[in-house]
Amino acid sequence: MERNRWYKDMVFYQIWPRSFKDGNGDGMGDLWGVLEKLDYIKSLGCDGIWFSPIYPSPGADCGYDIANYMDIAPEFGGMEAFRQVLEGVHTRGMKLIMDLVVNHTSDEHEWFEKSRQRVDPYTDYYIWRPAKPNGKLPNNWDSNFEGKAWTWDEVRGEYYLHLFAVKQPDLNMDNPLVREEVKKILRFWLDMGVDGFREDVITYISKKEGLPDDHLFPIYKGMPNYNHGPHIHEYLAEFKRDVLDHYDCFTLAEAPLVWPKRALKYIDEEKGQLDMMIQFQCQCADCLFTDYLPTKFSLRRMKKAFSNWQYKLAGKAWNMLYLENHDHPRILPRYGSERFWKESGKTLAVSYLFQQGTPFLYQGQEIGMLNWKPEDPDMYEDVQTRYNYAHSNLKKSPEVRLQKMWRSSRDSARTPVQWDRTEHAGFTTGEPWFYVNPNYKEINVADEEQDPDSILHFYRKAIALRKSLPVVRHGTYQEHFPLSRKQYVYSRTMKDQKLLVICSFSEKSTKLRIPRGFDMKNATCVLANYPSQTDSLRPYECRVYLWEK
Ligand code: GLC
Ligand code: CA
Repeated sequence: MERNRWYKDMVFYQIWPRSFKDGNGDGMGDLWGVLEKLDYIKSLGCDGIWFSPIYPSPGADCGYDIANYMDIAPEFGGMEAFRQVLEGVHTRGMKLIMDLVVNHTSDEHEWFEKSRQRVDPYTDYYIWRPAKPNGKLPNNWDSNFEGKAWTWDEVRGEYYLHLFAVKQPDLNMDNPLVREEVKKILRFWLDMGVDGFREDVITYISKKEGLPDDHLFPIYKGMPNYNHGPHIHEYLAEFKRDVLDHYDCFTLAEAPLVWPKRALKYIDEEKGQLDMMIQFQCQCADCLFTDYLPTKFSLRRMKKAFSNWQYKLAGKAWNMLYLENHDHPRILPRYGSERFWKESGKTLAVSYLFQQGTPFLYQGQEIGMLNWKPEDPDMYEDVQTRYNYAHSNLKKSPEVRLQKMWRSSRDSARTPVQWDRTEHAGFTTGEPWFYVNPNYKEINVADEEQDPDSILHFYRKAIALRKSLPVVRHGTYQEHFPLSRKQYVYSRTMKDQKLLVICSFSEKSTKLRIPRGFDMKNATCVLANYPSQTDSLRPYECRVYLWEK
C-alpha cells in the first residue's frame, strides 16, 4: 500500500524539555509548561513536535541516558502529563514524535544493573570484554564524550563499551533479545498514539565483529568500526518489518558522518528502512566535522551542503531541513551576524525553509536567540563541554579557552527559552536549573509578539507561505551562482509555479543578480526582510519571488 507520507507537508518544532518552559515552579522545564505553550507552537505554523528525551534518567547527558524507556520522568510530569500533552497535540491537528535512544542506556537502567551481575537474560545485553593480558583496554576506541570508550566495572570484573559518556553503556544489538526490547519500546509508544521517532545515533548500533582497533583518525574515515556497521540495515529492516510497517508513523534517523549516497541506503523511499535523516554537513560550514574544530564561516560550504542533499535525494528520498538543534551552538552568530541580528535571522530562515524537505525549528530559533557566554567554565553543565574544556587548548590563556567553548559548546544553545522581560525571562517562577542568557530583555517572545517586524513574525509568514505553495513540496530545486561568496540563490520550479529565493550573507550592499530565464516583470515579491526592493541587496537582505500561471 502506498504510504501517505504526511510528514512531507509538516513543519516540526523541537523541544529540549529542560529549558523550554517550567510549569510547576521548580526551575526545570516540564510537560505542564509545554501544555501552556502548545497554542504558541501551533501559532508558528508548526504542526509537529519532537521531544528530546523525557524518560526517567539520571541526567548524565541531559536525558540521553535513559533509565526506563516506558515511562516519563516525574520531574517532567510523568505519564499523566504526557497523555495530556499527546491529546492536546492531537486535538490541535498536530503530531508528536519521541526520541528513541537505543544505541546505549543509562548505567542506572535495570538491564545494566543485572548485566553487570550476570543475571540472565541480561548477561549479554551490553558489550563486555575482559582486560587484555597485558593490562590494555580491549581496543583503542575513543568515546565521543569522555576519553576512552571502555570503563572497568568492578561488579562484573570486565570492561564495558560506551561510545558516549561513561554513564552511557552501549547495548549489544547483535543480541536478538535486545532487538526484541527495542521493538517493545516502539510498540509501547506507538500504541499510545505517538506518531513516530527521532532515532538517536542510530547508525552506530551495529559494531564491527571483533571490535578491531580504530585508525589513527577514525573521524576522517567515517568511524568505520561502528558507524554504518555490518548489520545495520538488517536490524533496521527488522524493526520496520516487525513494528513500524504496522503503524501510520515515520522515522527520522540521526546519522553522524553520512553523505547522500550512503543516506539513500537508509532512506530511499522504495528500499530504505527509515524515512528521513539528520545529516551534519549543514552544520559544518564553520567547522571541520565537529563544532570543536572551528573554522571561518564559508557560505560556499553551506551552499554546497544544502545543494548536495537537495540534488542527490530528489525524487528518491526526503530531506530533513534544519539549522539548529540541541547539539550545536546557535546558528545566527555562526552563519549570520549579530550586528545585523534581525536581518540575518530572517535570511537564515528563508535560506532553508523553501528547500525541499521537512523543516525543523529548535526552540528559541524563531526569536533569534544567541549563544550563551558564561564567564566561568564551571558554569557549563554538558558532559562533552566539560571534558573538552579540561582536555584541550591547555596552552592557551583562560580567556581564549573560554571563548572557544562559547563557539563550540552545546550549552551555548541550551539556556532557557526567553519568553518575556520578567525575571528569569519568564521561564520559571522558581530558580532556573540552568543560566538564563542575560540578553533576555532584548530578545524574548513577548516583545517580538508586539513587533510586527520581528524575527518571530517573519518565521510565521515564511512558514505560512511555504505551506500555501505546492512548489515547495513538489518543485525542482536549482542553485544559482554557486561560486558566489556573498549570496545564496536558489529556485524551485514546477509546471504552474516558480519560486526564486535570494539571500545575501554580506554585511555590505551587494549587486542584485537575477539568474537567466527569470522574468522579473511578471514576478511578485512574496516575502522580504526590507520594506522595499531596490536594485542592490542590502546587508543580509532576503527576497522570495513567485511566478504563477
Ligand atoms: C545524539 C544526541 C546527543 C546525545 C548523543 C548521545 O547525538 O543528539 O544530544 O548526547 O546522541 O545520546
Ligand atoms: Ca518544572
